[in-house]
Amino acid sequence: MSEPQANQQQLKQAVASATLAHIEDGMILGVGTGSTVNCLIDLLPKVRLKGAVASSKVTQEKLEALGIEVMDLNFVGELDLYIDGADEVNPNLQLIKGGGGALTREKIVAAASKKFICMVDESKWVETLGRAFPVPIEVLPQARSYVARELVKLGGEPEYREGFVTDYGNLILDVYDLKIDSPSEMEQRLNNIVGVVCNGIFAANQADTLLIAKPSGIETLKR
Ligand code: A5P
Repeated sequence: MSEPQANQQQLKQAVASATLAHIEDGMILGVGTGSTVNCLIDLLPKVRLKGAVASSKVTQEKLEALGIEVMDLNFVGELDLYIDGADEVNPNLQLIKGGGGALTREKIVAAASKKFICMVDESKWVETLGRAFPVPIEVLPQARSYVARELVKLGGEPEYREGFVTDYGNLILDVYDLKIDSPSEMEQRLNNIVGVVCNGIFAANQADTLLIAKPSGIETLKR
């Protein structure tokens, strides 16, 4: 009889455990948001961090519950390392993020870090971004309808994430069917729409290193 395949939760735990080896004592660590990051947070007491910068309120609460000091990004300068999951990752290590709605804070902390390690299970690997997963876009509440019309002009199908408010008090539009031939260009075009706070394409702030969990083991890719 063959061994049962590792399930997705086991893959998340395996990649979080492999990522822990990249974290050093004394670091100030940028910590992402999501179920894969939650697996890593559970392991962080094994490292003597100087502190952490959280990418969401949820992550902040989890870190504090473990006694890890959460610092204000404005007072810590450049971070050594940012670690986060992703909703999609392509072979250039460009990402779609924001399934959990924390994309703006995630992008800020990623941008403020020397290095970004992304950790995913194999279900997140795609050849082309945006075919299966929509691009989340954080918008100012007053601009929601205007931004949605502009997104339709770009060929997208925006869907309002009902009942969801970001940590910054804004709204999320999930955009389906955007043709993302060049993630960098699309990221910039979306940013240029007035009323958009941030979009979930991480091309300018792509991952430097990707750890991807497969039933056969952890693969590491670098750009
Ligand atoms: C949160 O806003 C997202 O960017 C997450 O990083 C992303 O959705 C990955 O989450 P999971 O690890 O739960 O799949």
